[in-house]
Amino acid sequence: MKGYMAIKRGKFIVFEGSGGSGKGTQIKKAKKLLLANGLKVVTTREPGGVPVSEEMRSFIFALKERKLIGSEGQMVLFFAARKFWIDKFVKPNIDNGTSVLSDRCYMATAAYQGYGEGGSQSQILGIADVAVGRYKPDAVILLDISPEASMKRRENPDGDPYDKESVEFFERVIAGYRKMAKTNWGRLNWYMVDGEPEPEVVAEAVVQVLENIFSRKLNRV
Ligand code: TMP
Repeated sequence: MKGYMAIKRGKFIVFEGSGGSGKGTQIKKAKKLLLANGLKVVTTREPGGVPVSEEMRSFIFALKERKLIGSEGQMVLFFAARKFWIDKFVKPNIDNGTSVLSDRCYMATAAYQGYGEGGSQSQILGIADVAVGRYKPDAVILLDISPEASMKRRENPDGDPYDKESVEFFERVIAGYRKMAKTNWGRLNWYMVDGEPEPEVVAEAVVQVLENIFSRKLNRV
């Protein structure tokens, strides 16, 4: 079409893993690398990412801390916060060609409220269709660490009530994540990366995954 060039959609890439898996560190490294390779990239986190959803994050955590809410209540509230974030942050970026790297998304609801707390996976997938719609992630990178490593790395919980859960809870969450990655849960494109080695070693594995996602070679920074 004359005078018109379609903007290529950005990629929506989610980093997942239990507490202490190194998502924050790896997202920062991935952003730096993609920017250095000329790609447009933003980073974000869930729950949160936009002001309303950050307020909801505190609210959900407070209800959880006070044991006032079960798996279904949490599920609904996480998706309510997510809906704001999808509309205000994810959609506009993806649509204008900027890739979004997110620290968690609804796979965490499946792992924590589903596997961890016994909530229904089919309900989670059903609400995801409503709240996330066609803005589902292009790829999910699971940083896999053992329950023992997760417990050890989360020794100083920073106001996150989930970090105070038992070792059995984290065993269920981690087993759930592994199963989801192996079965491409939600018909999503999952990649499992060993999150236990030194951050530089994990980062190289993540770069290889990113090359696969973007179908191009990336210069290391
Ligand atoms: P994080 O920012 O340290 O990853 O903390 C977010 C916490 O919230 C983490 O303990 C996992 C939990 N969480 C859920 O339980 N369900 C969800 O859907 C999301 C996004 C996070």
